[in-house]
Amino acid sequence: MATTDPFGARPARRLDSLDASRADLYGGPSVLLPPKHLMASSDNNTAMEIENARHHLDEEVSSEDGSPQFASSPVSRPAVSTTDEFALAFDIDGVLIRGGKPIPEAVDALKYINGENPYGIKVPYIFVTNGGGKTEEERCIDLSKQLDLDVSTGQFICGHTPMREMAEKYNTVLVVGGEGEKCRVVAEGYGFKDVVTPGDIIKTRHDTTPFRKLTDEEFENSRVRDFSHSNIEAIFVFADSRDWAGDQQIILDCLMSKNGWLGTRSETMDEGPPVFFSHNDVVWSTSHEHSRIGMGALRASLEAVYKAISGKDLSTIAFGKPQLGTYHFATRLLQQWRKDNHGINKPPRTVYFVGDTPDSDIRGTNEFDKISEANWYSLLVKTGVYQDGTIPRFPPKKTCNNVLDAVKFAVEREISNKDEPVDVGLDSVALRN
Ligand code: G3P
Ligand code: MG
Repeated sequence: MATTDPFGARPARRLDSLDASRADLYGGPSVLLPPKHLMASSDNNTAMEIENARHHLDEEVSSEDGSPQFASSPVSRPAVSTTDEFALAFDIDGVLIRGGKPIPEAVDALKYINGENPYGIKVPYIFVTNGGGKTEEERCIDLSKQLDLDVSTGQFICGHTPMREMAEKYNTVLVVGGEGEKCRVVAEGYGFKDVVTPGDIIKTRHDTTPFRKLTDEEFENSRVRDFSHSNIEAIFVFADSRDWAGDQQIILDCLMSKNGWLGTRSETMDEGPPVFFSHNDVVWSTSHEHSRIGMGALRASLEAVYKAISGKDLSTIAFGKPQLGTYHFATRLLQQWRKDNHGINKPPRTVYFVGDTPDSDIRGTNEFDKISEANWYSLLVKTGVYQDGTIPRFPPKKTCNNVLDAVKFAVEREISNKDEPVDVGLDSVALRN
């Protein structure tokens, strides 16, 4: 696969490590290896060799006629080895992306932890965002383009990812939020058997929302159905609502019904289905210089309106950060990712979480740190929701200007905690087996 050389813009040929010959693996100049404590243990030398092989093979460049050749100048930078001691978890909005565009330091930060650092260390990492509204596959494709690197679904969790575990439990569900039909597609992909959208309800009964008319496209995609045959068993807000008034009206109709039968009204106002939000961020970071209101604000609004109408408290459930369940999920994902992608079969000592929202990223990381086997170390950046000069309600272990400073801090902290790097030849690497 043609790819960009991690140290420059020239095209390089990426080969599968299985194609590498022994000479490819162990030939070459002496290199600086990272400190032993940061490298995978001896039972993981295969992973290290794969990384070395990849690194070495990436030295191959295509000539103008397309045939591979070796770079003319010898390598003077370190071979890349993957650390099994620590890992990174990134929030996305306000850390790596803002308003659909990468934050200036984001690309360099990811290059840094992919080996472009003075220590030749590659650090395994995952992404944990509260955002959503698309399939994980689609979101990873977007992220790969935005950040100019391959992002796999095996290293990605979004706000609604854990909702897939509820697909078995409920039959007919109302799915709210996102663009067009995308969230219906996500929910059906998770295995939800019968997905109703606000569009289906409006198309079936157009005066449900007096001020909202379906666009031609929404009308085309929405499905008329007989709601006397099936009740809404649960409500899932998958992504930000594009029409708060209409969506709230429909959610309230379900909540005030008898057991989710649309058109009915409960006398006790406590017979409605449960409501799940994919996260609870009241604000989030976009291209605007000030944070914008998000799903947590809709949740607060819904609870307030329900109380105003029914006199009853409404209790809803939110997934995402700072919920500890999300961090347990992230732990499992990271474990699997490190095993499958790096051959590492032990938990990391420390996971550095880089986030911009004290109430979700930092709070969740700090609380999970208290109960987790690994250390979860919170790093707050100044490029998103958190504004420099304010006092965060949930203080991080460390505040950094941006994501590049954050990853440098994490790597330096690991390096300075232990002994110095050692100079060895690549042949020595081979003898370590
Ligand atoms: O809607 C997404 C937003 O609330 C937060 O996304 O990546 O900062 O967790 P993120
Ligand atoms: Mg964020």
